[in-house]
Amino acid sequence: MTIDATPERSSASTPSALDRLRDMRDRSLEAGGRTRIDAQHSKGKMTARERVDFLLDEGSFVELDRYVTHRCTKFGMEDQKILGDGVVTGHGRIDGRPVYVFSQDFTVFGGSLSETQSEKICKVMDLAMKVGVPLIGLNDSGGARIQEGVSSLGGYAEIFWRNTRASGVIPQLSGILGPCAGGAVYSPALTDFVAMVEGNSYMHITGPDVVKTVTHEEVTSEDLGGAAVHNQKSGAAHFATPDDKSCLLLLRKLLSYLPLNNAEEPPLVPTDDPVDREDEALDTIVPSDAQKPYDMRQVIERIVDLDSWLEVQEGWAQNMLIGFARLGGRPVGIVANQPAVLAGCLDIDASEKAARFIRFCDAFNIPIVTFEDVPGFLPGTAQEHEGIIRRGAKLLFAYCEATVPLLTVITRKAYGGAYCVMASKHVRADVNIAWPDSMIAVMGAAGAAKIIHRREIQGADDPAALEKQRADEYDETFNNPYRAAARGFVDDVVEARRTRPYLIRALELLATKREERPVRKHGNIPL
Ligand code: HXC
Repeated sequence: MTIDATPERSSASTPSALDRLRDMRDRSLEAGGRTRIDAQHSKGKMTARERVDFLLDEGSFVELDRYVTHRCTKFGMEDQKILGDGVVTGHGRIDGRPVYVFSQDFTVFGGSLSETQSEKICKVMDLAMKVGVPLIGLNDSGGARIQEGVSSLGGYAEIFWRNTRASGVIPQLSGILGPCAGGAVYSPALTDFVAMVEGNSYMHITGPDVVKTVTHEEVTSEDLGGAAVHNQKSGAAHFATPDDKSCLLLLRKLLSYLPLNNAEEPPLVPTDDPVDREDEALDTIVPSDAQKPYDMRQVIERIVDLDSWLEVQEGWAQNMLIGFARLGGRPVGIVANQPAVLAGCLDIDASEKAARFIRFCDAFNIPIVTFEDVPGFLPGTAQEHEGIIRRGAKLLFAYCEATVPLLTVITRKAYGGAYCVMASKHVRADVNIAWPDSMIAVMGAAGAAKIIHRREIQGADDPAALEKQRADEYDETFNNPYRAAARGFVDDVVEARRTRPYLIRALELLATKREERPVRKHGNIPL
C-alpha cells in the first residue's frame, strides 16, 4: 500500500524526469491496490476514477492534485502514503459544459477524509466558485480519517463553509455511492440535490452501533439511512437509482436543466414537440366529480415538451409533485398538487418539499409553473402540533420572495389559504389561468352551506334537502373561475387543451422579466 512520493530528484528535461513522471502517474492510478479494487467491484460499485470517467464527456477529465499525500505521522501512517490520498479531483465537461468534480476513493483508507483530502476538495470548490460552474461531489467514504483526529474534523468544516457560500451561486450536486456517515452527511445535505444508490449507499448521523447503545434499537445501516429511507421518509435525498451508472447518468441529466451559475440563464434545448400543440385529452382528464382523484403527473406530461419531465423527490410527500421539465425548449421548475394522494392537501412535508425547490429555481433563474388542485391544508392535531403554521409558512415565504417568472394553472380546486399560497396573483405570480371547471373559493360548497345556513337548515322541515339546495346555490355562485376572473385574480379562463401553447407564449414574454427585492442582508424564512 505504500507509495514513496519523494523519489530522487533529477533534472527536468532528462529522460529520467519523464520516466519519473510516467511512473508517478501510473502509480497514482493504482489507488488502494488490486485487492481493494476487486472488493469494490464485487459489491457492484465502480471505483472513484471509473465514476469520474463515466460521469464526464469522454476524454474531458483534467485531474488536479494527483500527487498529494497525507501528512499524518501517527499510527504508522507515515509508512502508508497513497498518491491522491483517497479522492480524485478535477474538472471536465458534461454535454460540452464545464463542471468541477470530486470523487472519493473507498479503496484508499475507506475514502476517509484526511486534512489533505479536504484541501483537495476545497480547491475544486474554490475553483468552481471562481469560474462559476457546477460542482459535483461523489461520496463514498468511511467518514473522518480516524488517525488524524481533529484535523479531519476541521477539514469537514472547511467543506461545509464552502458548500454554504456556494449555495445559490453555483449548482451543487451530490451522488452518494457508498457510506456517508457522521457529520459527513452535512456536506451533501447542504448541496442542492442528493442522488443515492439503492442497496449500496447510506447516510446517517450515528451508525447502528451507537443507536443500539443509546436507544437499544437494533437497526441496519440500510434501514437507518439507506436510499429508501431518505427518498421516502426523511426527504434528505432527491433521487434513488439502482446502481452507480444510473446515478451518474441521472446527475448528467439533471445538469441539462440548470445554468452554470446564478448569473446565467438555464440552457435552451431544441425540441421537436410543436409549441402550438393542443391536447384534447386534457379537456376530460379532470373527473367531473370533484371528489374523484386523478394523476397530476399525466397533466404535466401532456403539457410539457415530450419526455422532458424529470421528477424530483418522487417518493416523499407524494401529495406534492416537483420536478424539472421544458416548455418550448426552456427549462422550467414544476410545482403541483397531486390530487391522487391525500386529495392534494398541503401538509408539512409537502410545504417543505415545494418551498426548497422553489428557492432553488428562483436562485438559478428557472421559471416556475404551478399546477394547482388543492382543497386546503391537511387538518388534525398531528399537523398542528408538528408545526404546520411555522413549516407551511416556508412555502408561502418561498413563493412570495421568488422573482423568476411565476405561472399558475388552476386545474380544479383552489380553496382557502391554499389558494393564497399556491402562486396566487396576490403573492405576485405573473400569469394565472384557470380551467373552465375550476373552483376558486373559500371552501367546498357542502361545508360552506352548512356553516352559513346552519340555523335555517336546522329549522327546516327537510334539513337534508335544504342543505343540498343551499350547497348547490353556493356551488353555482362561487365554485367556478369567474368570480376570480371578474376581479382579475386569474387572467383568463383557458380551455385545458390550450394550456401548452398558452404557457409557452407567456414564458417567451416573461423571459425578460426583471424584478428587484428591497436591499437587505437576507430575509428570515421561518426555518
Ligand atoms: C480511516 C478507515 C475509516 C476511517 C474505514 N477505514 N473507515 N480508515 N478512517 N474513518 C479503512 C479501514 O480501516 C479499511 O482499511 C478500509 O477503510 C475499508 O474499511 P472496511 O471496514 O474493511 O470496509 P467495510 O467492511 O465495507 O466497512 C465500511 C465502513 C467501516 C462501514 C465505513 O469501515 C466503518 O465503520 N468505518 C468507520 C466509520 C466511522 O466511524 N467513521 C468516523 C465517523 S465520525 P484496510 O487497510 O483494511 O483496507 C465522523 C465525524 C465527522 O465521520 C464529523 C464531521 C463534522
